[in-house]
Amino acid sequence: MKKSTISIDKHFVVGDVDKRIYGSFIEHLGRAVYEGIYQPGSPFADEQDLRKDVVKLIKELNVPVVRYPGGNFVSGYHWEDGVGPKAERPEKIDLAWNVIETNQFGLNEFMDWTKKADTTAMMAVNLGTRGAEDAKNIVEYCNLDCGSYYSNLRKKHGYEKPHDIKLWCLGNEMDGPWQMGHKTASEYGRTAAEAGRIMKMVDPSIELVACGSSSLTMDTFGTWEDTVLSECYDQVDYLSLHQYYGNQANNTPDFLANTVAMDKFISSVISICDAVKAKKRKNKSIHLSFDEWNVWYHSHEQDQKLERWVKAPHQLEDIYNFEDALLVAGMMITMLRHADRVKVACLAQLVNVIAPIMTSDTGAWKQTIYHPFALISNYGRGTVLNTIVDTPIYESTHGDAPYLDCVCLMNEEEDTVTLFAVNKDLESPMEITCDLRQFSGYRVKDHVMLTHSDLKAINTEEHPENVAPVKADGAKIENGVLTAVLCDKSFHVITLGK
Ligand code: AHR
Repeated sequence: MKKSTISIDKHFVVGDVDKRIYGSFIEHLGRAVYEGIYQPGSPFADEQDLRKDVVKLIKELNVPVVRYPGGNFVSGYHWEDGVGPKAERPEKIDLAWNVIETNQFGLNEFMDWTKKADTTAMMAVNLGTRGAEDAKNIVEYCNLDCGSYYSNLRKKHGYEKPHDIKLWCLGNEMDGPWQMGHKTASEYGRTAAEAGRIMKMVDPSIELVACGSSSLTMDTFGTWEDTVLSECYDQVDYLSLHQYYGNQANNTPDFLANTVAMDKFISSVISICDAVKAKKRKNKSIHLSFDEWNVWYHSHEQDQKLERWVKAPHQLEDIYNFEDALLVAGMMITMLRHADRVKVACLAQLVNVIAPIMTSDTGAWKQTIYHPFALISNYGRGTVLNTIVDTPIYESTHGDAPYLDCVCLMNEEEDTVTLFAVNKDLESPMEITCDLRQFSGYRVKDHVMLTHSDLKAINTEEHPENVAPVKADGAKIENGVLTAVLCDKSFHVITLGK
């Protein structure tokens, strides 16, 4: 059996968890909005045509912020098309996804939905085909109450009080040649600086996210971040990161080693933010918004066959398996280990489109990746401890990969320590030990794990519980030392307290 030692000290903290690290994303794409969260005529819809069964599953996930309305979609979007009387809203072509957008769901419906789903909005503005003027107008529509044209328009649409949206994205993936209105780094940096400056003139209380690279593999990665931040450092608060992983090669150890690549990505972006800070002699630090992350590859082939100009097609409908759930757990652990700088993160996406939740006309169910997200979101509150993991390693295309991904959190209010761990060894169990003498009187309160004999096991509407967490046992604290045996290929949440 392999062995790993975990070392923590209650005084050596990384930082407090910003709960927005458990955010997600709803884009006008495929069946995310239509048939996902909004479905007139569905037996599950409420008086506003919002799906109650989906809201229930989202509340269980505990998602404090949801990014909207895109994604690539936002770069061609006119938000005005989605407000006001539904009968007057235009049907338009969406060039991001080659479909017809009916605009029957828009900004105000989304804001109503956020309240029902116990979440808040992270609103993106179109800096692709539009610019600072439009960005000004939407902030005015959403956040002001001053008798101006756009604030009055909101009232005319039935929303007396401002939506008061605090977090805004300055466009989406503007480094990507596929993006409508794609820009060079200096073009985008200037646009973001000016749009951001004007948006904050309208409402100085908002926070802004500038677009970083669409993935670590973009040719422009690095220079993009440096140039963009050099232009808009003063106006923005966060820089975004996006990353999706896939197991096209069907090499599970390599696939699970993507946490190493993700860690490098985060560390590199932090370095660039701090280099620009140093060059500019600033006191303010730029934090990270990892506002698109997930596994995405299962639906690629099927999506090649889609017809153009249809409404809400089955698009990007990845069916996730058990190994995807292990990587999702590992990615969340990786972000938590950088909790001092990663303040916002969005699992992309939330419903039907590369999502933890799927719907049909007859119900909604949890995909495999729902479980690690729900467990970490619900248990992962408090302070992240600097978690030193001494574990065997294996070779991967991303470099040396640890067999154990792990992070510990301390929650002083609840007097608990929680340990999240993934044993990536596909054949052998892993014995872990952790010295807990600083936490005297603690015992193992709870131990939940996610495991399955088949890495490719999935959940379906007929068998929604095939991959689901179970209670585990055997973890114990003796003489102040925690020991537990983590079975091969498994994710664990161990809660310790009095
Ligand atoms: O989440 C799906 C798409 O992935 C988003 O629209 C885009 O931002 C990214 O490329």
